[in-house]
Amino acid sequence: MAMPTRALFQDSLRSKSTPLFKFMLFLFLLSMVLGHETVEVEHYPLVVSTWPFVEAVRAAWKAADGGSTAVDSVVEGCSTCEELRCDGTVGPGGSPDENGETTIDALVMDGATMEVGAVGAMRYVKDGIKAARLVMQHTEHTLLVGEKASSFAISMGLPGPTNLSSSESIEKWAKWKANNCQPNFWKNVLPENSCGPYRPTSYLEHTDETCLKTYPMQTTDLRFLDLGHRIHDTISMAVIDRMGHIAVGTSTNGATFKIPGRVGDGPIVGSSAYANEEVGACCATGDGDIMMRFLPCYQVVESMRLGMNPELAAKDAIGRIARKFPDFMGGIVAVNKKGEHAGACHGWTFQYSVRSPGMKDVQVFTVLP
Ligand SMILES: *[C@@H]1O[C@H](CO)[C@@H](O)[C@H](O)[C@H]1NC(C)=O
Repeated sequence: MAMPTRALFQDSLRSKSTPLFKFMLFLFLLSMVLGHETVEVEHYPLVVSTWPFVEAVRAAWKAADGGSTAVDSVVEGCSTCEELRCDGTVGPGGSPDENGETTIDALVMDGATMEVGAVGAMRYVKDGIKAARLVMQHTEHTLLVGEKASSFAISMGLPGPTNLSSSESIEKWAKWKANNCQPNFWKNVLPENSCGPYRPTSYLEHTDETCLKTYPMQTTDLRFLDLGHRIHDTISMAVIDRMGHIAVGTSTNGATFKIPGRVGDGPIVGSSAYANEEVGACCATGDGDIMMRFLPCYQVVESMRLGMNPELAAKDAIGRIARKFPDFMGGIVAVNKKGEHAGACHGWTFQYSVRSPGMKDVQVFTVLP
């Protein structure tokens, strides 16, 4: 109802100050006041985030409760996680790639305008979500990657170039190298159990078939070796601000020991996060390389639009992935405009955090597969 009223209001404004204009102005202001107060008291603001990233949720809540927009509140929340290096997998100093380097994936989406900004495999700049917001607010693009994303972010005023490695990330990487670069994300390559350079096994198929006999398909098994830290790695957050506007954001280092150049689901809109303020929002985390093939958060929001409640929508999106990839791990949290939220997961126990007007502090919800 707000849009037609506003359009009429602007029309009347252009055609000078008529009685109709005054009447419409009265109606417009009345609808703002009434509409606003009803929702604010009941549901808003609202913050939802993957994992027990309590400090990040508190920071986003504080911003939103103080009147910040959904976009700014989500940036505040995810930035807090980057500064705290939540789980050692968000912000600088975590998740080294095969070369020992830490890079950043981040995204922000405004569910009112459907604008999106994102950075992928960004080097040398620690402020992932702020860089994503700069892409959204100062370019016509959606996603910038690699060193060019870094140059852009620095040119727009973010600190850098910065060394994103920490003693912990370098130590972790050194141990992995010492363990013959196991586990890793390669498949159908040789050498099989040591560090690269790798070459496709198919090169050998015609020349030396005996080599292939001992070669097991093992990439999915390897994922289980160092599970917790390899995949438990993304903050994905949704905020509904006082005005009922919705935004989502994500930030992560991506997968530990990833092949350099890999971009995960973090900066892929519709995968790790999605918002449409007519409906609600979704946050996802997990095995990003698989999840991004299904755009689960887009699926969740569109399912809610068609009438599913958040729980059913989240379960449906997880189920679609699990049917094709029974070993995948992931968690999804869905929230609708009414402030109802629910999670679903597969392959692990998932947790998400919520702060709403009815709560004294952040509450953590646990979802079993
Ligand atoms: C970056 O920091 C790490 C960890 O402190 C250190 O080992 C590495 O040498 C540094 N790299 C550069 C280029 O300064």
